Amino acid sequence: DKAGHKHFMSKEIFEQPTVLAECLTHYSAGERVALPEGALDFAETDRLILVACGTAHYACSVAKYWFEQLAGLPCDVDIASEFRYREPPVSDRATALFVSQSGETADTLAALRYAQGKAARIVSVVNVPESSIARESDLALPILAGIEVGVASTKAFMNQLGVLANLAILAARQRGRIDAAREAELLETLRGLPGLINQALALEERIHKRTGKLAEARSVLFFGRGAMFPLALEGALKLKEISYIHAEGYASGELKHGPIALVDKTVPVIVMAPRDALFDKTVSNMQEVLAREGRVWLITDAEGAEIAGDGVWQTLVMPRIDPIFAPMLYAVPAQLIAYHTALHKGTDVDQPRNLAKSVTVE
Ligand code: M6R
Repeated sequence: DKAGHKHFMSKEIFEQPTVLAECLTHYSAGERVALPEGALDFAETDRLILVACGTAHYACSVAKYWFEQLAGLPCDVDIASEFRYREPPVSDRATALFVSQSGETADTLAALRYAQGKAARIVSVVNVPESSIARESDLALPILAGIEVGVASTKAFMNQLGVLANLAILAARQRGRIDAAREAELLETLRGLPGLINQALALEERIHKRTGKLAEARSVLFFGRGAMFPLALEGALKLKEISYIHAEGYASGELKHGPIALVDKTVPVIVMAPRDALFDKTVSNMQEVLAREGRVWLITDAEGAEIAGDGVWQTLVMPRIDPIFAPMLYAVPAQLIAYHTALHKGTDVDQPRNLAKSVTVE
């Protein structure tokens, strides 16, 4: 049942405020992250290893910024198909965390089995609680997104981030990096997200109009800095999957190290950048793109739009949020851009060619 939407993907994008609110309620009680006593001990662990595939891997890549910045916890992120065969050393004090919507992804399951008996603790973050990955973990944390039908993952990504954000806050507390007031403040920011996501969803019509031109592009570049870098990768993956347009995500600072060679007036450049401490650097990156006749689509907040000024091809103004959790909010325009570009192209959004919802063979 698509609940009046044209596609499951659209339904699932619009479910995000509701399912995220449910997830956040589950993982935090009032002013504190709530997990069963002793379920996780981030004070004792020396390293967090995050392993997944595809979109789940990008959720892990966002979370790395949170675990490192909030909790000072060294963090490795790996693609499951690489981790499982590389024979990486795994410390017996490490926590190994596997993220999977389906809980059945072959490479992620094999990576989990590799870490069993090596890491101190095997944790999974899954949408399907009775899945193989959940069953084989010491601790399985449900993301509570409800069934996700669209092959392009949207609400599962959002709720994976919801769970991982709570874990990062818990780690920060257990490692003595934040006090009770800061914990309450971070949770308050998270609780504000469903409302802000609703505001972002209201930009749909605008995004539909503006993606008309994007649908004509042969190639699109996405740029982001900090925790927005993995979101640039996710935005590019979404666009590739359902519109079949070639897209790449880059860390903004990498522009000069190669991708600027691709820039001309035929290659739209989507810059996802809330106004943060490094925003000025992003502006100078954009200027380099503009100087080469690149068409910049800036997604930012009102302050960012003002600083960036005119000259960009188009600007999408997002609500203001603490930059640390901005990837969750900015996931929404990234998803809507992919979805509406696909609508303009008339591709099969829910069943994109060559892709399966659950990849149970490697
Ligand atoms: O079920 P999983 O989360 O383990 O699946 C991982 C990837 O196959 C999945 O995220 C894939 O990249 C999606 N099609 C992305 O939209």
